[in-house]
Amino acid sequence: MKRDFVVIDDFSNVEIMDILRTTFEIKNRNVPGFDFQGKRMLNLFFEPSTRTRLSFEMAMLQLGGEVSNVTGIESTSLSKGESLADMARVVSGYGYDFIVVRHPLEGAPQVVADNAWVPVINAGDGSHQHPTQTLVDLCTIRDCKGHLNNLRVGLAGDLCYGRTVHSLAIALARFGAETIFCIGPPELKMPEWVLEQLARLQTSVIQLESIEAVIDRLDVLYLTRVQKERLAATIDYEALQRAYSLNKEMLKKAKGDLLILHPLPRTDELPREVDNDPRAKYFPQSDNGVPVRMALISMLLGKMEQGQGRQQKTVIGDERCLNPRCVTLHEPYVKPEFNCLPNNLLSCFYCGHLLH
Ligand code: NCD
Repeated sequence: MKRDFVVIDDFSNVEIMDILRTTFEIKNRNVPGFDFQGKRMLNLFFEPSTRTRLSFEMAMLQLGGEVSNVTGIESTSLSKGESLADMARVVSGYGYDFIVVRHPLEGAPQVVADNAWVPVINAGDGSHQHPTQTLVDLCTIRDCKGHLNNLRVGLAGDLCYGRTVHSLAIALARFGAETIFCIGPPELKMPEWVLEQLARLQTSVIQLESIEAVIDRLDVLYLTRVQKERLAATIDYEALQRAYSLNKEMLKKAKGDLLILHPLPRTDELPREVDNDPRAKYFPQSDNGVPVRMALISMLLGKMEQGQGRQQKTVIGDERCLNPRCVTLHEPYVKPEFNCLPNNLLSCFYCGHLLH
C-alpha cells in the first residue's frame, strides 16, 4: 500500500521521530543506504514557493534521483478546466515515483492522493496545513532544545490564514507541549478546527493579543507573516503587521535560551535588527529544509510503505463543507466526507473545518 503525507496526522509520533533521527544522520554525513538512481519526483507547484520547492528538488538530487517541475496552474490543463482528479490519474501513470503538490485550495493534495497511484506529499494547501514545514520546525526545535515536550511555545502573527502554524500546533500538542500561546489579532485568530484538536489532545492553550505580555515565559517564539494574499481587501494589512512585529527592545525581557523561529518569507514582523541575536534560528531552520526532506523521501519510499497512515472513521455527508476555500466546493465530483469527532462534531476530511 502506498503512503501519502497530506496532513501531519498521516504520521505517528514514532514515525516523525524516525524521520528526525534519519535527518540527524544525514546532517552528520551518514547518508542512509538508499539507491535513488532512476527514481523520479514530480513537483506540482500551483502557488509561489522558493524554500519548499527548491529544498525538495535539492533533497531529491542529493539522494541521486531526478526531478520534474510544474509551476503555476496556467501552465497546465487545469486552466482548460481539467479536474484535479484526472490530472493526478494521468501524471501518476507517467512513471514518477512520487508527487509533491502545493495548491491554493484546502484539501487539494488529498484529492491528488486519492487519484494518484504513487505517494503524494502536501507542500502546503491554502490555509490548511504544511506538514513538511512542520517536520523542519520540529527538527530545529529538537536540535536546539534537545527535546520536544514540556515547551512553552508562542505562535504569533497570522494564525488564521497561515498554514504552517496549524500543522505545527497539532504536532507540538501531540508531543506534549506545556502551553501553546496563540498570539494574534482577533481578525487572525487560530481557527476553531485547530483549537478543537488541541483541546482533544488536552493541551493548555492561551489566546492573547500581545507578544510582549508573554515573551519572558516562552521557550520558543514562532513568528509568521500576515498572509496578505489570503486576506479580504478591506482589512488594514499594514496595521496588523505593525501590531505583531518583534524588536530588539522586546527581546531584552526574553529568556537567554529563547528560540526565535519563522518559516520565512518574512516581512516587517521580523526586522533585520533581530538577525544578529544568538537566539535567532530562522536561517538554520530554513537550512534544515534539505536534510529533513531527504529523510522524508527516503523513508516514504522505503520502510514507511509498511505503515498504516491515518486511522479515521469518515462518513459521507449530504451536506457540503462550509469553508469556501475547501476543494470539495471547487471540484464538485469529490464526495463530501467528514471525520466523526467526540461531542457529535464532524470535521471535513479534506480541509479539517468543523461542520456547524
Ligand atoms: C510558508 C508557506 O508557504 O506557507 N513558507 C514556507 O513554505 N516556508 C510561509 C508563508 O508563506 O508565509
